[in-house]
Amino acid sequence: MSLQTRKIALVGGGQIGTALALMITQKDHAEVVIVDLPEAVDPIKGKALDIMALRPHAGVDVEITATSDYSKIADAEVVIVTAGIPRKAGMSRNDLLEINLGVIESVAKEVATHAPNAFVVLSTNPVDTMCQAFQRHSGFPKNRVIGLSGALDSGRFRLFIAMETGFSAKDVSCMVMGGHGPSMIPLTRTATVGGIPIQTLLSDEKIEEIVERTRHAGTEIVQLMGQGSAYISPASAIMEMVEAYLYNKKRLIASSVRCDGEYGINDCFIGVPCVIGAGGVEKIVEMELTASEQSQLKTNYQSLLENIKQI
Ligand code: LAC
Repeated sequence: MSLQTRKIALVGGGQIGTALALMITQKDHAEVVIVDLPEAVDPIKGKALDIMALRPHAGVDVEITATSDYSKIADAEVVIVTAGIPRKAGMSRNDLLEINLGVIESVAKEVATHAPNAFVVLSTNPVDTMCQAFQRHSGFPKNRVIGLSGALDSGRFRLFIAMETGFSAKDVSCMVMGGHGPSMIPLTRTATVGGIPIQTLLSDEKIEEIVERTRHAGTEIVQLMGQGSAYISPASAIMEMVEAYLYNKKRLIASSVRCDGEYGINDCFIGVPCVIGAGGVEKIVEMELTASEQSQLKTNYQSLLENIKQI
């Protein structure tokens, strides 16, 4: 019997899933149910027990269950989908398209059957197309399907600005739009530290370096780690999105959401600024883009349309 009244389901008990289970436990947010393939369940049960052993140290009461039985996700308020294959060194996120589309199709049908009212956050790559596939196969309304992109990419952009300026990352504000891939669009003109435009703190060359590092930060980590992909920063970024939903925070976080006319984009998930609250994706915020930003967004959109054809 769980002490928690709230349930979060994690579909995928790999690195990001495990990091999420730890973060949810540390904050005592909810009961956690991790769903994975039957052969993965025992190792995940071991990780779950390891995390639950935090209870006496952290003063939390979280219950974590590992299962291959989707019926256990019933009543989950939030379902976080990290299932699928992560990329290896030398691979792009798009190289995962075919295999992960198959995974997401079956996950979407299971989630629609067992947790039809959940808010669903995806990080499976290539994430924009996975959101599109999830929504199509689940029939979920678009306000309840969202993908991890800007929360992670803007977080990295903020980190690199903090590292270069020496100021706290907490005071850095900026946004990254577009698809979650190497053509993502860090909006340098909107970036500030404590309200001061970064252009007054850093040279143009340095800013361009930060932009390029941000675009390839996931790849930099994949290459350095040797195996696997980033998991701590993706899990932390997902937690911000989930907390915004659970606690109705009305956070403005660029995320992969479905546009139907906004920014001239139709029937396509792509990273745009949106408000996350108790209503899920409550609103897409449209801002004026420069000609260059508009043309980059159009290129992102066109390549996502190519991906969508494969769903
Ligand atoms: C990354 C993965 C989550 O950017 O796409 O690290």
